[in-house]
Amino acid sequence: CQKTFTLNNGNVIPAVALGTWQSGEDQDVVYKAVKAALAVGYRHIDTAMMYGNEAEVGRGIRDGLKEAGLKREDIFVTTKLATIHGRPSMVPKAFEDSLARLDIGYIDLYMMHWPIALNPASGKLIPLKPDGSRDIDEELDGKFELTWGAMEKLLDTGKVKNIGVANFSIPNLERLLKTAKVVPAVNQVELHPYLPQNKLLEYCKSKGIHCSAYSPLGSSNSTLLQNETLAKIAKAHDTSIAQTLVSWGITRGSVLPKSVNPERIKSNIETVELTEQEIQEINDISKTNTKRFVRPNWGIPVFDEDFE
Ligand code: A2P
Repeated sequence: CQKTFTLNNGNVIPAVALGTWQSGEDQDVVYKAVKAALAVGYRHIDTAMMYGNEAEVGRGIRDGLKEAGLKREDIFVTTKLATIHGRPSMVPKAFEDSLARLDIGYIDLYMMHWPIALNPASGKLIPLKPDGSRDIDEELDGKFELTWGAMEKLLDTGKVKNIGVANFSIPNLERLLKTAKVVPAVNQVELHPYLPQNKLLEYCKSKGIHCSAYSPLGSSNSTLLQNETLAKIAKAHDTSIAQTLVSWGITRGSVLPKSVNPERIKSNIETVELTEQEIQEINDISKTNTKRFVRPNWGIPVFDEDFE
């Protein structure tokens, strides 16, 4: 699928990306997955400092580009600011470190990974309090607007083409937009038929913010991949449920299916044209089945339903 979307700054984002979260401990696996993806036509790779794989993803990109005869500018690479680097003073170095690990010259899209900053003093990537909730950065005191201000300044370096956010709900976007000089190009959130987030998508559209879907297949241990409606539609197109999910997803925004299996990587980008009726049937799935698969214990409101 070579479909693209145009962002609010005129830049283009490819509709399907290889997701690399939870690609496993063995870093060679994600390296091979990235190369396999570039070889079969993916032009968009999504990673994050918090996935712990930027170096191997970068190596996969560099080798994959060479092997596929592609140039750096043929592809779009996203990475994300870790939650322990939310203080504005930490953002430039966190960005440079990500870029150095990836070693690909520039980043296409740099995102604030969560609307939350965690205590940077603990020495841990995800510091926790004794009760299991996240150890919030008291110095930043929840002011993600300040983090965003530091991210805006990164655009002046020319080393990042677009900045965005991830996991932002409508109330948090409203707050951010009050002081933002640059409207986020993208909001990357969990999106699939069990969590279609229609209101959030509508809100983002009204503000010119593109939405990218993470966990579009329902993440690991997905129950989506057994859904009967999806199975029926997949069968009608002689395709898989995963392909049906990606095909539905790209009617709404960009989609980031994760796989480390070369055959599944190849198949996930082979989308089909769904009919209006099929799209409607998939839209209706959330009337009877809803599930958010990714819900860390933040201890404070993050998702839209937390604010209701
Ligand atoms: P694997 O990496 O072994 O392929 P999500 O993108 O929603 O996070 O879902 C990723 C999960 O779905 C992973 O467990 C991944 O496992 C699995 N997966 C990816 N592509 C397919 C596919 N085409 N069919 C079935 N499972 C898939």
